[in-house]
Amino acid sequence: MSVQKKGPSGISDPKLNPEMTAKHYDNWSGYYEKEYSQLNYTAHRVCAGAVAKALGGSDRGKVRIFDVAAGTGLCGEELVQLGFTDIDGVDGSQDMLNQAERKQIYKRLICDFVGPNRLDVENDTYDAIACASGFAPSHLKEDCLPELIRVVKPGGYIVITFREEYLYTVEHYKDKLEPTMARLQNDGLWERVSREVFPGFYEDKDGITFVYKVL
Ligand SMILES: C[S@@+](CC[C@H](N)C(=O)[O-])C[C@H]1O[C@@H](n2cnc3c(N)ncnc32)[C@H](O)[C@@H]1O
Repeated sequence: MSVQKKGPSGISDPKLNPEMTAKHYDNWSGYYEKEYSQLNYTAHRVCAGAVAKALGGSDRGKVRIFDVAAGTGLCGEELVQLGFTDIDGVDGSQDMLNQAERKQIYKRLICDFVGPNRLDVENDTYDAIACASGFAPSHLKEDCLPELIRVVKPGGYIVITFREEYLYTVEHYKDKLEPTMARLQNDGLWERVSREVFPGFYEDKDGITFVYKVL
């Protein structure tokens, strides 16, 4: 069987609304992990590793982590491998979350769209957010960043990993994503810890990981 490099037909279509994107992932949920493993996908591991590095010597059994765009739970599994046990997740696709639920590694899974809307999460709840591949065409946009900051404790971290070329090829990110990140820093909401490009996001594609500390 040939590997679908961009997932189900249309998943990289920049014009999908969140409901349509969720529907695509609902339909893909049973095949997602197999296809991503055939692509040698590493972003979930890189993202989880960056969370562990940012949290340094914290007690991994006590810190609370929010897996944003958790999907089937690949990043959550990596976090568990690293010793984290208190993990919640959010995703717009219920069928992706159903796959994640089966792994029994999440305390709470929320089916909701991540955007400017308020999530059902109290302020300052988490020590860190891990977001692996949540940023892509028709996925999360820069307008969700204040909401991510809201749910992280001051001094906590937001780790965002995605395919590096999307910074320049996705119309919605080109002049918006990094400028918005910079504006939020100018506004004193967070500060950048690192911005690292890495090879092998999957296949021959580079990935990028941003680590921000919430102020
Ligand atoms: C490529 S998958 C990544 C899943 C997982 N983090 C991983 O590394 O395998 C992207 C996920 O983002 C979710 N997603 C896309 N747009 C979303 C939105 N606006 N709100 C919440 N989830 C969204 C999709 O449903 C999908 O599960």
